Amino acid sequence: MYNFDYHIPTKIFFGKGQIVKLPSEIKAIASKILLVYGGGSIKRNGIYDTLLPLLKEENIEVYELSGVEPNPRVTTVAKGAQMCKEYGIEAVLAVGGGSTIDCTKVIAAAAYYDGDPWDLVTRKAPITNALPVFSVLTASATGSEMNNGAVISNMDTNDKLGIGHPSMLPRASVLDPTYTYTTNKHQTAAGTADIMSHTLENYFSKADDFYLLDGMAEAMLKTCIKYGPIALEDPENYEARANLMWTSSLAINGSVRWGKADAWSVHSMEHQLSAYYDITHGDGLAILTPAWMKHILSENTLDRFVKYGVNVWGIDASLDKWEIAKKSIEMTQDFFVNALGIPATLYEVGIDESQLEVMAEKASTPMLQKDAYVPLFPEDVLAIYKLCLK
Ligand code: NZQ
Ligand code: ZN
Repeated sequence: MYNFDYHIPTKIFFGKGQIVKLPSEIKAIASKILLVYGGGSIKRNGIYDTLLPLLKEENIEVYELSGVEPNPRVTTVAKGAQMCKEYGIEAVLAVGGGSTIDCTKVIAAAAYYDGDPWDLVTRKAPITNALPVFSVLTASATGSEMNNGAVISNMDTNDKLGIGHPSMLPRASVLDPTYTYTTNKHQTAAGTADIMSHTLENYFSKADDFYLLDGMAEAMLKTCIKYGPIALEDPENYEARANLMWTSSLAINGSVRWGKADAWSVHSMEHQLSAYYDITHGDGLAILTPAWMKHILSENTLDRFVKYGVNVWGIDASLDKWEIAKKSIEMTQDFFVNALGIPATLYEVGIDESQLEVMAEKASTPMLQKDAYVPLFPEDVLAIYKLCLK
């Protein structure tokens, strides 16, 4: 357990109808905003029509940038940053899932930078400041609504990179579970897998002696296991949507990470899949996780898998340790594939052998080789990718 500083100043408005509180929060610091959203779901489900009159009532001038892609592109960031400079935008408001919020955060930072925003993502130039960021979350998955990270893709170079800065942390986020009712089965399943992966990346970490954090992580995983399938069956089940939504924020706002070392192995491997094949983030994670678990299971990691199997999956603690560990991995895969309906193999999401080696080289970063729970070198990543092929 390591020392840590804890500071998450994002104001959260959680629950049905809480969006009414957002405009006055924005107005306190900005009168001219850029509203950023994706491919139009917010128009189809009515969130746009609810929000715009509320902003108008506060006399907030609104410019719009739509069309943020899933796996948001740096080209869209550049477009948004240009608008901020041209119109003198004072704050940016994201309405959407993780892609829209991530894109908005980097737009906010790029508004203070004169060069290509990709320089900020690659860390060629440091982020120094960002316009104030606000968000209305419409999909439970990434936790972007309550952290300072963003993941941006450059399809010209096949790179999907994460970047974070305190100034990009949302000042306030609206978490209304009813806004996620219209996410379809695929998005709901992929989002649930993403939340679970964030939790697992912390649960399987080098410092595994933090009793409280383990218990919190186990509760989050059990929440996803209980409510993911309910949300799939009954999309307007408020209890399920609310539990998933709050878990999505807590799983990656530091609550179960601080005090632990983590290199986020599965995320590093998945980002390559998305960078080369533009697949859904949660699908990639769900396919990779069981293979990664099989690869790292050894005498050294056995006890952690036993803890996971017994506390999360309810496997009988009196069974042989190896049996428990292997069963925990089988149950993880069975949940992703059969309970959530996510493809089991890379082939099913359109990925073949052709790019595996280059992706393995890129995924095995110095951090993965040094700080991962079990260090992963290119040959390890390649072996994991191959396990996922069919
Ligand atoms: O674009 P629209 O029309 O809004 O449709 C979106 C999109 O097609 C749709 N959607 C979202 N809310 C909806 C809805 N459709 C109907 N009703 C609603 N209420 O869902 C589709 C996917 O949206 P997206 O934002 O891409 O999904 P998600 O929230 O899973 O975000 C994924 C992105 O976040 C990154 C991922 O890598 C990926 O690029 N991540 C960000 C992280 C962070 N900032 O901390 C951490 C994560 O590990 C992750 O890497
Ligand atoms: Zn993720």
